[in-house]
Amino acid sequence: MPFRLSSLLKDKEIASDADAAVGEYEERFKTTRRSSEDDEAGYKTFNNLYYDLVSDFYEYGWGRSFHFAPRVPGESFKASLARHEHYVAHKLELRPGMVAADIGCGVGGPMMEIARFSGARIVGVNSNGYQVDRARRYVEEAGLAHLAGFLHCDFLHVDAPDDSFDAVYSIEATCCAPDKPGIYGEIFRLLKPGACFAAYEYCMTDRFDPQDPVHLKLKADIQLGGGLLVIDDRPTVDDALRSVGFEVLETRDLAVQTGPSVPWYQPLSGSGVSFASFRSSKVGRLVTANSLRVLEKLRIVPQGAVRVAGTLELCAAAMVEAGKLGIFTPMYFVHARKPA
Ligand SMILES: C[S@@+](CC[C@H](N)C(=O)[O-])C[C@H]1O[C@@H](n2cnc3c(N)ncnc32)[C@H](O)[C@@H]1O
Repeated sequence: MPFRLSSLLKDKEIASDADAAVGEYEERFKTTRRSSEDDEAGYKTFNNLYYDLVSDFYEYGWGRSFHFAPRVPGESFKASLARHEHYVAHKLELRPGMVAADIGCGVGGPMMEIARFSGARIVGVNSNGYQVDRARRYVEEAGLAHLAGFLHCDFLHVDAPDDSFDAVYSIEATCCAPDKPGIYGEIFRLLKPGACFAAYEYCMTDRFDPQDPVHLKLKADIQLGGGLLVIDDRPTVDDALRSVGFEVLETRDLAVQTGPSVPWYQPLSGSGVSFASFRSSKVGRLVTANSLRVLEKLRIVPQGAVRVAGTLELCAAAMVEAGKLGIFTPMYFVHARKPA
C-alpha cells in the first residue's frame, strides 16, 4: 500500500519540495486572516497549498469521496458514503434535465455518484487544479462525461452567470471558505429563483465550551490539520444563510442519530480490521507513517511526506476526540431555497 502512495506522490509537482510546502502551509495558517475581505489572496494560497499537499493522502486513505457519513450497523463504509451523497440528491429532487453545481467537488467521487443516481448533469467547482485534473480523468474513465463538467475557479467567484443552476450542493467544502456570508452569497447568486441549496457543514455544536482548554485545543488541531481557517457554530451558519436572502427549509445535525448507529468518526478510530477501512484506521495510519519514514529515508517518497502525514494525523486524532465529546460535527445538514 505505501508503494501506491509513493507512486501517487511522485506524480505531483509539489512532490519535489513537499517539506518546503508543508512549512509554507503552516506559516500561512498562522498569518492568513479569517475573512475573505481581509485577505482573499492569502486564503486562496492557503487552500491550494493544503489540497496540493493532502489530496493523495486523502485518496489513499479514504477513496474518491473526501467526506464522512452517518452509518448504521451492518452497512459498509462505502455504502454509507454513497447513501450520504444520495441523500443530498434526494433532498434537492435532482433528476434528468437538471443542472446542479457541486461546490468544492474534490476529485469528483460524490459528483459521479450523484450524476449516476439522479441522471442530473453536475458541474464541479474547484480551485485546486491537481484535483480537477484527476476528477476529469475519473469522469472520462467512468464514461460519465455527458453528465459532468468542471469550473476550475474559486468558489467565491464562480465563473458562471447569475441564475445558472437548478440546484447547488456542497459536501464538506463550504467549511473551507473564510466566512459563510461570502460563500452563501455566491451560491445564492448562482441559483435560479426558486431553486435550492443543500450542504453538509462542519460546525462546533452547543456542547463546545470556548472556555475549555481541551475543547479549544481539539478545535485548533482540526483547523490546522483540516486546512480550515474557521469552524463556525450552528447559529452562525443559520444566520448566514438568512443574511444573504435564503429561506431556510431545514438545518439538522445528522451526527445525532436516533436509532442504532456507528459514529461518523469510527473509520478514523476503529481497528481497521476490514481491508476497506484499514488505511484510514488508527493502525493503518501508523503503518503508513512508519512506511513513509522508511520510504522518505530511501528517497522513494519526497522529503516532507512524513510531515504531511503528521499534520493529517493531528486532525484525525482531534476529530475522533471531538466526535466522542460531541463538540464537533462534519454533517450539519442545511437545506435552503432562493425565493422565487
Ligand atoms: C474536504 S474536500 C471535499 C471534497 C468533495 N466535496 C468530496 O466530498 O469529496 C473540500 C474541497 O473544497 C475545495 N475548495 C477549498 N477551497 C476552495 C475554494 N476557495 N474554491 C473552490 N474550491 C475550494 C477543495 O479543493 C476540496 O476539493
